Amino acid sequence: MENEFQEGKEEVIQAWYMDDSEEDQRLPHHREPKQFVSIDRLAELGIVSWRLNANDYENDEALKKIREARGYNYMDICDICPEKLPNYEAKIKSFFEEHLHTDEEIRYCVAGSGYFDVRDEKDQWIRIAVKKGGMIVLPAGIYHRFTLDTDNYIKALRLFVGEPVWTPYNRPHDHLPARREYVDAFIKKPTVSQAVEAL
Ligand code: LAC
Ligand code: NI
Repeated sequence: MENEFQEGKEEVIQAWYMDDSEEDQRLPHHREPKQFVSIDRLAELGIVSWRLNANDYENDEALKKIREARGYNYMDICDICPEKLPNYEAKIKSFFEEHLHTDEEIRYCVAGSGYFDVRDEKDQWIRIAVKKGGMIVLPAGIYHRFTLDTDNYIKALRLFVGEPVWTPYNRPHDHLPARREYVDAFIKKPTVSQAVEAL
């Protein structure tokens, strides 16, 4: 399933290392020179993604297949722009607080665009730009945040396994089982001496 619906994905999902300037969070924040991150590298951090036909999300067989394979029985729509989201400024601010969840964060962008920022193994921010047609899964326990870009609009489907829990645990929440499991699976690399011992 992770290998399906990949065609043309680079057109709707792009990632790069961020600079550390304090400028507007909605700007791209590229480093100088630009330092792009491949989709394969994102997969090494546990991030799964697809490209789907966002014009047909209501009847799309590909989306149905993903939902069945991964048990995403819950789905709703989130329209984020100043006119449509109640409490817009406060919400936008809280989305940009670094946090984790005890479940996957699954988002399918069907209109507009936005930035999902995630931490790599060395705690560096990677910015993932998602446009119409891009669907991504952030694994449980990954530290991340979200912001609109300068177009100020995203319409995203939110999916979930079972009853949705959207609780953000702001950093630090390193003791949570979901965090420990994430670290064990994706961050902790064996040291050279451990690797030699295992031979
Ligand atoms: C969320 C995004 C903002 O938790 O990370 O919905
Ligand atoms: Ni989140």
